Amino acid sequence: MLSGGASPHAIIRVTSGSNVPDTITITDDRTGKTVTVPITDGVFPASAIRDLDPALYIYDPAYMQTAACKSAITYLDGDAGILRHRGYPIEQLAEHSTYLEVAYLLLNGELPDAVQLDRWKTDVTQHTFIHENMRKRFVDGFHYDAHPMGMFISAVAALGTFYNDAKNIDDKASRDKQILRLVAKMPTLASMCHRFSVGLPFVYPDNDLSFPGNFLNMMWKIGDYQVDPRLERAMDVLFILHADHEQNCGTTAMRVVGSSHADPYTSCSAAASALGGPLHGGANEGVVRMLAEIGHMDNVPAFIEEVKSGKGGRLMGFGHRVYKNYDPRATIIKKAAYDVFEVTGKNPLLDIALKLEETALNDEYFISRKLYPNVDFYSGLIYQAMGFPISMFTVLFAIPRTVGWLAHWQELLADKEQKISRPRQWYSGADARDYVPMASR
Ligand code: CMC
Repeated sequence: MLSGGASPHAIIRVTSGSNVPDTITITDDRTGKTVTVPITDGVFPASAIRDLDPALYIYDPAYMQTAACKSAITYLDGDAGILRHRGYPIEQLAEHSTYLEVAYLLLNGELPDAVQLDRWKTDVTQHTFIHENMRKRFVDGFHYDAHPMGMFISAVAALGTFYNDAKNIDDKASRDKQILRLVAKMPTLASMCHRFSVGLPFVYPDNDLSFPGNFLNMMWKIGDYQVDPRLERAMDVLFILHADHEQNCGTTAMRVVGSSHADPYTSCSAAASALGGPLHGGANEGVVRMLAEIGHMDNVPAFIEEVKSGKGGRLMGFGHRVYKNYDPRATIIKKAAYDVFEVTGKNPLLDIALKLEETALNDEYFISRKLYPNVDFYSGLIYQAMGFPISMFTVLFAIPRTVGWLAHWQELLADKEQKISRPRQWYSGADARDYVPMASR
């Protein structure tokens, strides 16, 4: 974990009680120049390289070895399978908290007291409606079979056009207002995208309902629909589990776009675009498609062999850039799946998923690469059992992740060490050459 305070240019720091220096010394063999810098929490400043030679760069595709920011929001230990928000273990939050309380925690750094929570819930509840023209002029313009995630990504950016004050990112009151609007309106946008894609009339928010209850109501209400409290709680737990996950692809997109001082709606839309990719939040969609394609438990061994041979694509819902252990969210989701199936009946794909998990976890290919189920492996099965179409799965991920994006956006803007994101490249193209006239090509 990174913590603040260490000067990037301090020369020697010794770990107290030990003779081992907590520093790294780098020598440029071309010049013999040496730089010694501190290692703090396993991180040393890249400015060491700049000090050696300002024209020397680190080649790090996909930022595998790069910490691009300091962050106090989420702690993740991939080897131990630990996830904590502001210090609180995800297991405790999923058991005792609500999504709105976790949202407050992520944004403010502390759990709210009763008055603060009540105020926050009221504020969010009073911002759930969207401008009528969002639906009439914007959403109604989509083609009848538009993918809900594509609609959602565009709708988030379009929403910003209704709030010209969103550009005032230096004004805390304005930032707080946009955060409130974005958190509160995401379920409304998401359900609107679904209702449009199935040709059903839009259901307005019901401010007497809880955050997850209102979302389920906007999704499913036809006639006398009543939200089942067990599904309402399951939805809330899923929202908690998806609220933040430190510097993943979507959050990095949020930080990169936000670093140009774009407004938070455009930045969230960029983050949602990244989330939509099949290697990121789109994986839950891929899992259910994969399980349906496998079709039967007996086909699992052959499928695993195909994955291993590289001919059959990847085992969706398995593997993670950071977790080299069971994703703690997957453990909680697996349990939540059984709670949901008690209400909805078992998803017939569950047996295939269990067999797939067991087979992979006992297979040398997956063991040696430390590939375990991730958050997406079971979430799709729950969503499907609850009646969500596959095309809505990533939208369901984006609703709660919005608060994670915004917590990082706030942190980025307050961080004096941050500037506009602008990595370097290792140029590998042609040397200078003269333009060739068309007749000579
Ligand atoms: N199935 C089969 N092999 C895999 C898988 C998988 N799901 N994931 C990684 N590998 C292999 C990969 O082929 C490579 O093998 P080798 O060393 O022989 O070339 C090795 O494991 C390392 O893979 P990598 O691609 O270098 O790992 P990465 O950290 O770049 O990728 C990942 C992480 C999540 C993109 C990848 O594990 C993956 O594609 N998983 C399937 C998609 C998925 O479930 N994504 C959801 C991620 S969690 C939620 C979220 O972040 O949104």
